[in-house]
Amino acid sequence: MPAVGGIGPGTGKEYPGNLTLFVTVTCIVAATGGLIFGYDIGISGGVTTMTPFLQKFFRKVWEKKEADKSTNQYCQYDSPTLTMFTSSLYLAALLASLVASTVTRKLGRKLSMLLGGLLFFAGALINGFAKAVWMLIVGRMLLGFGVGFANQSVPLYLSEMAPYRYRGALNIGFQLSITVGILIANVLNYFFAKIKGGWGWRLSLGGAMVPALIITVGSLFLPDTPNSMIERGQTEEAREKLRRIRGIDDVDEEFRDLVAASDASKLVEHPWRNLLQRKYRPHLTMAILIPFFQQLTGINVIMFYAPVLFNTIGFGDDASLMSAVITGVVNVAATLVSIYGVDKWGRRFLFLEGGTQMLICQAVVAACIGAKFGVNGNPGDLPKWYAIVVVLFICIYVSGFAWSWGPLGWLVPSEIFPLEIRSAAQSINVSVNMLFTFAVAQVFLSMLCHLKFGLFLFFAFFVVLMSIFIYFFLPETKGIPIEEMNQVWKSHWYWSRFVEGLDYPNGGVEMGKGGQGSKNV
Ligand code: BGC
Repeated sequence: MPAVGGIGPGTGKEYPGNLTLFVTVTCIVAATGGLIFGYDIGISGGVTTMTPFLQKFFRKVWEKKEADKSTNQYCQYDSPTLTMFTSSLYLAALLASLVASTVTRKLGRKLSMLLGGLLFFAGALINGFAKAVWMLIVGRMLLGFGVGFANQSVPLYLSEMAPYRYRGALNIGFQLSITVGILIANVLNYFFAKIKGGWGWRLSLGGAMVPALIITVGSLFLPDTPNSMIERGQTEEAREKLRRIRGIDDVDEEFRDLVAASDASKLVEHPWRNLLQRKYRPHLTMAILIPFFQQLTGINVIMFYAPVLFNTIGFGDDASLMSAVITGVVNVAATLVSIYGVDKWGRRFLFLEGGTQMLICQAVVAACIGAKFGVNGNPGDLPKWYAIVVVLFICIYVSGFAWSWGPLGWLVPSEIFPLEIRSAAQSINVSVNMLFTFAVAQVFLSMLCHLKFGLFLFFAFFVVLMSIFIYFFLPETKGIPIEEMNQVWKSHWYWSRFVEGLDYPNGGVEMGKGGQGSKNV
């Protein structure tokens, strides 16, 4: 029986090609698509602790917070409208990623990125000038549409562009941009909150126009991926492009495989319905469970609400925003570690190490908060060492996430889907991610209010589950060409039964059969 995470003998294919300047620059530009998502994640939490913002749009929350000063700290921010503000974006992103599947497939990855940038820009503009809650919500929905398009297309783009040996590192450029976006947003919030006159929040929200412009302009200059060009019939241009990207003349073997994968994928009639076929069971499972588990690490409790959380556990307003900046720096730095290691140590190692690290930290943070706040949420005086210990363990937790589930949650799905279901399956990945980002954002403040410090144990439980899942069910995908990925399922102890007997010469496509008929969605 093949090993638990075994990759078996590999595919035997080794396409020639270099890490050219062209592909590096292209991937860096495309990866900036992560900035918009990151900026938004980082900005909302800080803005919702700014008093002038609360007074203008969420007066009740502010009054309650003022009145509650000495009572139960766990519940001071519990307000459905406030959480709706944060989480409305994720529902919009969910819907957009479904539409983006067709755009990405039929019109190319590049156009989806462009649309993502434009929609996000419009949302930022409306938010910066918001006069009423409805404007905030409409703006956030536009931002959400933008994120849906970008997150659908950027990871696929990167995985298709990258030479397979560097795919992990180049793809994680996306996550790096997310973390840089979060950090910039946290720093800006810190300064804008201090602006006299109380309109700093407008700069925070309107500032999202800058990352939007970066990806909008960037995408105009990006070439489409050869995979996508072939898929859309531009075969000869695609060959030229592949030569340029790989920096060599002889790209024949890789090119042939891309064409074959594309030909076979054209025979597939309904990518969505196709996903339900038995042979795609491993892909579908990953498209659902990886994003689900990524969100159930509880990371966004920290990312959205770090200032709120730090405030709740006894830090002043300023110290809270500052702590969010500290976790932001750790997030970026730790992502660099995974860029360095992902193609060396492999995906499984990072997943399992990161999981263990997060688990330990969640237990420690729960114990600290539990010890000080008990169940009634009244801490009394908080010693300085206590604050330091909590922030320290939250940072270790964030770094564990940042070199495991953070980047891999986007990388692994984008590299395992065969071309004929790639766009559709990636939409499932984005939608599930957004759905659970929404769910966590929506219920976090009331969970904090009701579960109290037990909240951290709730997420710890899921971290145990997801690590077991990775250990048994995720094969290693490092160093395998993307259109050759079927090999990893065939040699896996469990998934082989779903794909056995099917010989996919080109990465998961049954040549000459390929589904029920003619056209693609
Ligand atoms: C996740 C986000 C999270 C971010 C933190 C991303 O991979 O999808 O939900 O906020 O990482 O860095």
